[in-house]
Amino acid sequence: MQCIQYCDHYDALSDRASERLIQVIQDKPDATICLATGATPELTYRFFVEKIQKNQVDIRNVTFVKLDEWVGFPLHTPGTCESFLQQHIVQPLGLRPEQLIGFQSENIDEKECERVTDLIAHRGGLDLCVLGIGKNGHLGLNEPGTALEPCCHISRLDDQTRHHDMLKTAGRPVTHGITLGLKEILNAKEILLLIAGEGKSLASRQFLTQSITTSLPASFLWLHNNMHCLIDQSCLNFG
Ligand code: PGA
Repeated sequence: MQCIQYCDHYDALSDRASERLIQVIQDKPDATICLATGATPELTYRFFVEKIQKNQVDIRNVTFVKLDEWVGFPLHTPGTCESFLQQHIVQPLGLRPEQLIGFQSENIDEKECERVTDLIAHRGGLDLCVLGIGKNGHLGLNEPGTALEPCCHISRLDDQTRHHDMLKTAGRPVTHGITLGLKEILNAKEILLLIAGEGKSLASRQFLTQSITTSLPASFLWLHNNMHCLIDQSCLNFG
């Protein structure tokens, strides 16, 4: 099933997305869930944490996976994907360290990809992958280009991504990222794609044409047969 739902505003999108996250955990209490970071899922994660706490959902056996990370930027400094997940998911939910699988960010090479993908494989793969779309159409840090690397890899960031809002506090240029590849993303049992925020209009409209192109890595999600996409209507008009 592929399903596109238009939401009247960001709050509604975030509420629906958080409901889906809770449902996945209720259906499978030992689920493995990959999480994107950034402005798009921030409110989803806040609602998710509130609902977990309010309804006392048992998350002791859930494992979360960090989708990507900036390379060469110390892991526990503001602006990293790690800090984002620590602040919005790990700390408020009081997760144990082994409940988060994530990339290191410094002194790493392709072996880091192997380590993380092995950990995911040991968990039986991803049950759900929560994604956002980049202003340039990237997915995780799978950057647009004439060709895409299929598997988990260290990627060279394109200019737009180097100026990502998350990197405002980096204090120096960040040129590379490490990311799950399209192969690992498309192997997830379910995809939840969230589209919201300013500067997404062009990428979203291209995505909605359903034509698959390496210049819009997110378009490969049309190959997934269990993809649910929530779109904040207003982002289609923002430019
Ligand atoms: P955003 O980032 O959620 O902060 O807009 C999404 C992305 O660049 O993939």
